[in-house]
Amino acid sequence: MSEALKIAVAGLGTVGGGTVRLLAEHAGLLAERAGRPLRLVATAALERPADLPLDGIPTFTDARRLIAETEFDVLVELMGGSGGIALEVATAALAKGRHVVTANKAMIAHHGARLAELAETSGGVFAFEAAVAGGIPVIKALREGLAANRLQQVYGILNGTCNYILTTMRESGRDFAEVLAEAQALGYAEADPSFDIDGVDTAHKLAILTSLAFGTVIDLDRVHIEGIRHVSALDIQYAEELGYRIKLLGVARRTAAGVEQRVHPCMVPIRSSIGRVDGVFNAVVAEGDYVGRTVFEGRGAGANPTASAVVADLLDIATGRRTPTFGIPWHRLQALEPAPMEGHRGAYYIRLMVLDVPGVFADIAAALRDEEVSMEAVLQRGRAPGETVPVVLTVHDTLEAAMMRAIGRISRIDAVVETPRLIRIEDF
Ligand SMILES: NC(=O)c1ccc[n+]([C@@H]2O[C@H](COP(=O)([O-])OP(=O)(O)OC[C@H]3O[C@@H](n4cnc5c(N)ncnc54)[C@H](OP(=O)(O)O)[C@@H]3O)[C@@H](O)[C@H]2O)c1
Repeated sequence: MSEALKIAVAGLGTVGGGTVRLLAEHAGLLAERAGRPLRLVATAALERPADLPLDGIPTFTDARRLIAETEFDVLVELMGGSGGIALEVATAALAKGRHVVTANKAMIAHHGARLAELAETSGGVFAFEAAVAGGIPVIKALREGLAANRLQQVYGILNGTCNYILTTMRESGRDFAEVLAEAQALGYAEADPSFDIDGVDTAHKLAILTSLAFGTVIDLDRVHIEGIRHVSALDIQYAEELGYRIKLLGVARRTAAGVEQRVHPCMVPIRSSIGRVDGVFNAVVAEGDYVGRTVFEGRGAGANPTASAVVADLLDIATGRRTPTFGIPWHRLQALEPAPMEGHRGAYYIRLMVLDVPGVFADIAAALRDEEVSMEAVLQRGRAPGETVPVVLTVHDTLEAAMMRAIGRISRIDAVVETPRLIRIEDF
């Protein structure tokens, strides 16, 4: 059997711990598949966990020393953070001609292009299967399995925390704040949940998928981002009545005006492949001109699924299977031509809280008519003269800019008492 692949793991938390366990428990299987052993030679963590199989393997508290003082072939960076120590050690390892495997989508979204350039010029591999949709091998699917296609769009549920919250809100009828607090108590949401619920984590992952799907340089700044804080139990209930589920989606789509990259709550048909994906599960849909629609579903986070993806990258490195970081060499990636959000066309759900007084509905209809927004359906349950009632409208495909102007006019109507809630409807 050939020489062992020497692996250094920086970060022994959820994913690092899972990776160390998988390397130990599947050592025989991995050696057989790679034709050589995958050997853990050193680790770094602020505190060395007692419950990991690390006998005889040193742990550095300073990851820089791991790089400087260890002989390794691959650095597995699992500390996290878009810059700081993670970027420092990944850069140092690549600069030495070593390989880097990471699950760190924040770092890739911000510095992926530079790290790809460094890897490809110094002879190393920069791999990140675990960074998007955890255990689902979607990076490899886009980069290799679907490489013969011109992809039209890639979209998905990329954040398990948001999907868990939205699913639980639907199943229990409870509101966002209560379900978020419960998710935090159960460990499904971070103490500071903003990265997840404000859509930033989904945007990081979407920016990576866009680059792979369209051969463009990652452009996080051109992702339109909205999170799920404003989704209410009432909207989820109305969605259900209209035949939809509300999901936080990341959508990358090629349009005549450029590439759309958007993250926001969407209503998707209940029976669509994505509408049925519940709880902490993730799903990614890629549509290509020859293959048609492909759907990938599975666990998007957690120690074991994420370790599965990390170690798949290690196997590729061990066997010498190589592709350019983003599918084509870094210097041939194109600058992304962004399609402005105002130019997006789609259907919309609008919920208004209005005073039930004569004439209000005519005012709302006039605002829509004046902006050439064509109404599809109206839902108003019962009447309560003089009181506030929810009114739900859906509109046919329209231009985002016109929709926003119409919403602005509607919110200025005296009888409209709260900020209108708007959710885009996707016909997936
Ligand atoms: N959790 C998931 O399911 C998941 C899924 C996909 C991708 N990811 C990504 O994977 C990465 C790791 O996530 P995680 O959930 O495993 O994080 P985590 O549980 O917080 O673990 C981070 C680890 O890094 C160590 N660390 C932090 N700063 C360090 C430093 N300066 N020097 C040495 N060690 C340091 C921590 O040590 P101490 O514990 O001693 O502080 C800990 O062992 C992140 O980029 C994350 O976005 C996570």
